[in-house]
Amino acid sequence: MKDKIIDLRNTPLVAVSSIRSPKYAARDFKGILILNGEIVLRTEKLSHDIQEEYKGKQLVLLGVLDGSVHFIKDLSEGIGLSLQRTFIKVSSYKQGTVGGDLELLLTPMVNLDGKDVLIVEDIVDSGRTLRFIINKLTNSFKPNSIKSCALLDKVERRLPGFEDVKADYTGFIIPDEFVVGYGLDYADNYRGYKHIAILKPEIFSENNSDK
Ligand code: PRP
Repeated sequence: MKDKIIDLRNTPLVAVSSIRSPKYAARDFKGILILNGEIVLRTEKLSHDIQEEYKGKQLVLLGVLDGSVHFIKDLSEGIGLSLQRTFIKVSSYKQGTVGGDLELLLTPMVNLDGKDVLIVEDIVDSGRTLRFIINKLTNSFKPNSIKSCALLDKVERRLPGFEDVKADYTGFIIPDEFVVGYGLDYADNYRGYKHIAILKPEIFSENNSDK
């Protein structure tokens, strides 16, 4: 049975100094929001739920590049069922906010007709990317089903008209802060940091502050 999504919006941060971290972490992070061990535990639970739902089905995990690579690896290891994995890439013009166009940069390398597709995202923010991908898949293939799994959800950031966008499986609800690590980046930095941390506001410029 699916459990309640873990809501971290009022959770105190872990001090960077309290765990072993690279030098840039103390300089650039306000604190750690989710320790790697917590990500692993939560991902195991999501994997278990997905395994239950997709037994006997032709599951295809469709990872959204680049952010989802850490998550899809851990998630697929946990699912254990025979499954296919493929990737999609969407370019976004984040500065444009509401009207920003989305473009498909990489199409799935697997024919998704008749398959049970699970889109794997690191984060749902405005909701534009997830909706765009679902629409694209619906128009381009005839999958048996399309569902989604996101590690993080910044629920407070949905754009008007996107309030109903919600992954079918979600790891954590997080506050409206700039998060990095475990695949998430700022200007392609910090993706390899194993925990999920909150970036100090002075590190990102106003132009990029919509993440
Ligand atoms: C991030 C993230 C999601 C998307 C969510 O991707 O990986 O795909 O933004 O945002 P939205 O809900 O506002 O659409 P990004 O475009 O930053 O690419 P990246 O994963 O390569 O960093």
